[in-house]
Amino acid sequence: MNFNDLKKDARMPKHIAFIIDGNGRWAKKRGLPRSMGHKAGFENLNKHIGYVQELGIKNLSIYCFSAENWNRPKAEVDYLMKLFGDMLDDYKKKYLDKDVRIIISGDMDDPRIPESTRIKAKEIMELTNEKTGFILNPCINYGGRQEILKAVNEIIASKETDIDVEKFEKHLYTSELLPLDFVIRTSGENRSSNYMPWQSTYSEWYYPETLWPSFSKNDLVKALEVFMSRKRRFGAIKG
Ligand code: IPE
Ligand code: IPE
Ligand code: MG
Repeated sequence: MNFNDLKKDARMPKHIAFIIDGNGRWAKKRGLPRSMGHKAGFENLNKHIGYVQELGIKNLSIYCFSAENWNRPKAEVDYLMKLFGDMLDDYKKKYLDKDVRIIISGDMDDPRIPESTRIKAKEIMELTNEKTGFILNPCINYGGRQEILKAVNEIIASKETDIDVEKFEKHLYTSELLPLDFVIRTSGENRSSNYMPWQSTYSEWYYPETLWPSFSKNDLVKALEVFMSRKRRFGAIKG
């Protein structure tokens, strides 16, 4: 299938996620510092945001920094935080006049995140919160278990009772997003690393060996073909 044929296919996912793994190994293979892998990874991400929009996929989530990534050396964490600040500046320039809503999933009140980045994150979410087209969902300082506990604590504080799935989901960062159809984790690691445990219960998962900075447009096409070849049953009997 070519890229343009995908656009018209009714089996296409509506919400996909990238776990952009392998930046460090990509750099190491080239004798570069890990930071250069992150730089290349975020450049590649910009291209993929464009492809996903062009394909008409409605929502894109990206695992940018996990709640556990704080355990990395300070210099690497500092570099990533700087990158997120620049990324948010770039999004502000690129998307404010487009029909793009930006929702950042993760604890953006954490004082370990530079204050300027926390402010930029809140600002861009507010500035785009009326947009109804594409949703771009970078997940920064995100942990799935932490997100579930946040929901539980909010529910306890609100004294809400008879919580069902729908009511619970209102307390997740992803409450405005469509169901998560497809998760692509690059670099060959077959695990979720605390990514969207609630949202991905019926997602399709795909683990290409490619390291994220090398993940190409053609690799995305291949991944989407795999998604469309899967039979999703949601517990029922189909096909
Ligand atoms: C993932 O790439 C990107 C972030 C955590 C931001 P890694 O940094 O985990 O790269 P590897 O897994 O060490 O190769
Ligand atoms: C998951 O990758 C987090 C992101 C891609 C942001 P990690 O590289 O942190 O995951 P583990 O440590 O290999 O499980
Ligand atoms: Mg990794």
